[in-house]
Order: sequence, then structure tokens, then C-alpha cells
Amino acid sequence: MFSRFAKPTGSLLSRAFSTTLSNNANVAVCGASGGIGQPLSLLLKLSPFVTRLSLYDIAHTPGVAADLSHISTKASVKGYLGPDELHDCLKGAEVVLIPAGVPRKPGMTRDDLFNTNASIVRDIVNAIADVCPKAMIAIITNPVNSTVPIAAEVLKKKGVYDPKRLFGVTTLDTVRSSTFIAEAKGLSVKSVNLPVIGGHSGVTIVPLISQCTPQVSFPQDVRDKLTVRIQNAGTEVVEAKAGAGSATLSMAYAAAQFAESLIEAMSGAVGKVECAYVESTETEAKYFATPVMLGKNGVESNLGIGKLLDYEKKLLDAAMPELLANIKKGEDFVNK
Ligand SMILES: NC(=O)c1ccc[n+]([C@@H]2O[C@H](COP(=O)([O-])OP(=O)(O)OC[C@H]3O[C@@H](n4cnc5c(N)ncnc54)[C@H](O)[C@@H]3O)[C@@H](O)[C@H]2O)c1
Repeated sequence: MFSRFAKPTGSLLSRAFSTTLSNNANVAVCGASGGIGQPLSLLLKLSPFVTRLSLYDIAHTPGVAADLSHISTKASVKGYLGPDELHDCLKGAEVVLIPAGVPRKPGMTRDDLFNTNASIVRDIVNAIADVCPKAMIAIITNPVNSTVPIAAEVLKKKGVYDPKRLFGVTTLDTVRSSTFIAEAKGLSVKSVNLPVIGGHSGVTIVPLISQCTPQVSFPQDVRDKLTVRIQNAGTEVVEAKAGAGSATLSMAYAAAQFAESLIEAMSGAVGKVECAYVESTETEAKYFATPVMLGKNGVESNLGIGKLLDYEKKLLDAAMPELLANIKKGEDFVNK
């Protein structure tokens, strides 16, 4: 038996030098020189599950790769610079993580990033379709609500779309929620799991506090405040960084957690569950984040939204118009 939404055990660093695990994944990071890309690449270099780490960016990858390659862990590291080297970077990749693109500045929504980031994701996914069409694709680039539909449409046009292998990375929403709930209740954060469903921007982020493990309850006003904080947590970081970008370190941690769960599941580990934004029939939104069971071929089963409180149903209703519009915008970008 697995819990509906189980947190992976053991910290990344504590497992970094484990010799008992035998997963051997070939991982590419596109956008590897950025605020997320560098710490994410570091965490992947520390991971016992990664054998080859291919780092792509339009800037600085020779330096980032040289630096990481001196770390005494097993993954080999190679940097690839600029569009001419993208195909070489992707050769043989089993998992491709995409944090390429611009982050928010104070006052911006994630949707404000669309014009710049849409074409970046489209071009990288086009190359994936040509070079490693079977790879698992994990998209970090915002607006995730739209970049995942963009990726799906590109893959469909190339005839290689497999919905089980395309993920929008929303792990940071669950990481943050667990942290905030643990703080509020004085619990050990390791013991707290909270599913976050919907999308990855503002009101489309729907935390399901009623499905928290362990069970927690709050007066309505506290629950309202926690919900709003979870929905605006990214903005909290953007404002604190005051123009220097958005969440990078916590995002790298979250993406590494997602990547490790996925790689372990691909290698046959059972019970690996993460919330992710995937193609879905759970609601009228074609793409929707829920806890998903991961397996050898990506999404093994969608664990669904579960039973919602009226309060959570209202949050979901409020999320839908924006989510549907974001999805359409992404699809239209590729098809019109
Ligand atoms: N999914 C999430 O939860 C989440 C959380 C935080 C940030 N993000 C998003 O992640 C993205 C990256 O954020 P960041 O803080 O690392 O930004 P950053 O500006 O620090 O880094 C982005 C990197 O992408 C590279 N890049 C730009 N165009 C590229 C292209 N065509 N091909 C390859 N690389 C390219 C840049 O050179 C840079 O190194 C942003 O869109 C941000 O909004 C997502």
C-alpha cells in the first residue's frame, strides 16, 4: 500500500554518496546556466541515479559543466552551447528537464512571460521530438499552464506525443505547502504531505489541506490565509528578490525531487507519487495537476483529485477560467 501522495524518503544529500542504488539515468538540462539550472544541475550531479548529465544553454555552459565535472560523484558532465549543439546534447537523453527562459520581476504574472518563453520551449521540444522522442520531458519554464500545452502540440505535430511522458513541474507547490503547514502546526516537515492540484499560477494553484497527511485542521480564517500564501508563495520570493528573479534554489530542490522520483520509477521502483501538471480527464481542463503514480513509462496512473470540501470546490471553480484560457493560449501559439 502506498499513501495517496507519498513524499520520497531520505534527503538528496544524504543519498548522494549511496553505493547501494543502481539507477543509471541519462539526463539533460536545457537552461542549465540559469538561476534554477545551475543548482538543479548540482543536485543532479550529486544524485546516485544519474550517470550522464548533459547541460544545454545559450550561455555559460562550458564553465558550468567544467565546474560541476570536478565533483567526485559518478555522473559524467558535458556542456553544450547554443542552438548548434542542442541536438548533440539531447542524444540518448532519457529525461529532459527544461528551466530555460526568463523569470518574473516584481509586478509580473507568470502569463507575462508567455511572449518570451513560449518560443524557447517550442524550439527545445521540437529538438527533443527529433532527437529523443521517447524521453520524459519535465517543463519548469513558466507559464507552466501554457508551456505544457505548447510542448504537447509540438510533439503532436511531429507525431511523437505520448501524454504519459510530458510533465509540468509543480513540485514546488507541494514542497512549499508542506513547509508552511508543518510550520503552522509545529510538525516535522518530513512527515507532512499535501496534494496541490490545478495549475501553477495564482488562483489556479489549489492546495487540498483536507487531504493533508497527517490530517490537520485550521479555523477558516487561518485556512484562508494559508491557501492565499501557498498561491502567492512564488510572488513572495519575487518581491523579496526585488528584481533579481524568482524562486531558484527551492525550485532546484523541487525539480531534483521530481526527477529522482521519476528516474527511480523508470527503473522499477514502485509507489513513487508526485503531483504534476499532466494531460488529464479529471476536470474540463485538458491539462491539470494531480498526484500521479509514476512508473517505467512515465505516468502509470492518475490518482485524481479525491474528495473535496465545499471550500476546495470553490477554489477549483475559481481556478478553471484562468486555467482553460492559459491552455488555449498555449495551443493557439503552436496551431495559429
Ligand atoms: N515551475 C516552477 O515551479 C517554477 C518556479 C520558479 C521559476 N520557474 C521558471 O523557470 C524559468 C527559469 O527561471 P530562472 O530563475 O532559472 O531564470 P534565469 O534567467 O536565471 O535562467 C534562465 C536560463 O535560460 C537560458 N535560456 C534563455 N533562452 C534559452 C534558450 N533559447 N535555450 C536554452 N536556454 C535558454 C538563459 O541563458 C538562462 O541561463 C522561468 O521561466 C521561471 O519563471 C518555474
